[in-house]
Amino acid sequence: MSMNEDKIMNIALVGVGGMGESTRGSYAGIPGANVALLVDANEDVCRRAAEAMQVDRWSTSFEDALAPDIDIVDISTPNHYHAAQAIAALNAGKQVLIQKPLAPSVEEAERIVEAARRSGKQAGMYMSYFDNPLFYEIKDIIDQGLLGEVSSVRARAGANSADFVKPGNWRNSAEKTGGGALIQMALHPLNMVQWLVGRQVEQVTAFSHNRMSPLIGGDDVTVATCYLDGGILAAVEASYCSYEFTLSVYGTKGFITVSENTRVELVLGDAYEGSFIRYGKPRQVEHLSFPNLSVSRVRLDDNPHDQHATFVKAMQRGEPAPIPVDIGLRDLRIVKAIYRAAEERAIVDLRESVG
Ligand SMILES: NC(=O)c1ccc[n+]([C@@H]2O[C@H](COP(=O)([O-])OP(=O)(O)OC[C@H]3O[C@@H](n4cnc5c(N)ncnc54)[C@H](O)[C@@H]3O)[C@@H](O)[C@H]2O)c1
Repeated sequence: MSMNEDKIMNIALVGVGGMGESTRGSYAGIPGANVALLVDANEDVCRRAAEAMQVDRWSTSFEDALAPDIDIVDISTPNHYHAAQAIAALNAGKQVLIQKPLAPSVEEAERIVEAARRSGKQAGMYMSYFDNPLFYEIKDIIDQGLLGEVSSVRARAGANSADFVKPGNWRNSAEKTGGGALIQMALHPLNMVQWLVGRQVEQVTAFSHNRMSPLIGGDDVTVATCYLDGGILAAVEASYCSYEFTLSVYGTKGFITVSENTRVELVLGDAYEGSFIRYGKPRQVEHLSFPNLSVSRVRLDDNPHDQHATFVKAMQRGEPAPIPVDIGLRDLRIVKAIYRAAEERAIVDLRESVG
């Protein structure tokens, strides 16, 4: 083990309410991760988080995250703050981990990628679904050819925003989020689909509207059809007025579906023995259930895929961020292409530049 791997990383968590609340918890058990500072614009939220985590240093001012002793700045603030905060942190020599989406606009996302390149520091994305071990086994199943040749994919992510978006929430504004349901919800399936099949979205067309969600700026349902390189077709749906994540991959020898509530349904061409997914009767439908591995919340004592742990480890070793911001920029371009396709009733080709 090199000296570097023993290095204690001082971490500033920026935005500790909302999603940051669950982020906070996962740092507790990471070797070498010292949560040194909490920052939140809301003083009450910040003080309560500091008490809960027993962290002495907390602040309502982002500038404090640029203090010389801070190594990593973890940004969980609303989308429209990501660029200014990430770029300031990179310019101050910090490594940065950023919640999805990278930023509301491609232009801001490009500036983050450029700041990372210029600083020589690492900037990575936190994509919560990658905490889930099931997806790594599904990728393994696809890579081993147990689905045969993949022909198509269907994926959707949804939540009923009426349950959690109130007047005054930043999600009221399409400018602040950068869209609506599609940018907030469908980044996960868009990203996951490309990673699972090892292909990139090249062309998109879509319908997108807001029919039921007056408190959401932008769309509340979008359904897109994507053409991936190599000819795989993907149907991707985002909803801000209904729940349920579901993702299915179809191939010539079988299919696999994973759903929000810990269900996996599959038919494979041959047996598979993973740590979680076990399949013994080729070409027969199997239904599996994983109560600890809900898509939005992984409950494992020791999760080898916890992204905060893998990011900290990569920084200790001087390695690249596990999910670099370039991926966030790529996915943002796809999101914007889908919005444009819906608006223009057209097919948008990502191989031409999309801004
Ligand atoms: N599954 C997921 O991956 C997932 C789920 C929810 C949210 N998110 C992402 O997390 C980010 C935050 O979303 P949220 O739902 O937690 O929002 P939120 O509004 O619930 O919470 C944001 C927190 O940031 C604080 N804050 C606001 N402006 C700030 C500033 N300028 N500096 C410091 N603190 C500030 C707020 O006081 C609040 O505590 C967004 O980018 C969102 O897309 C990801």
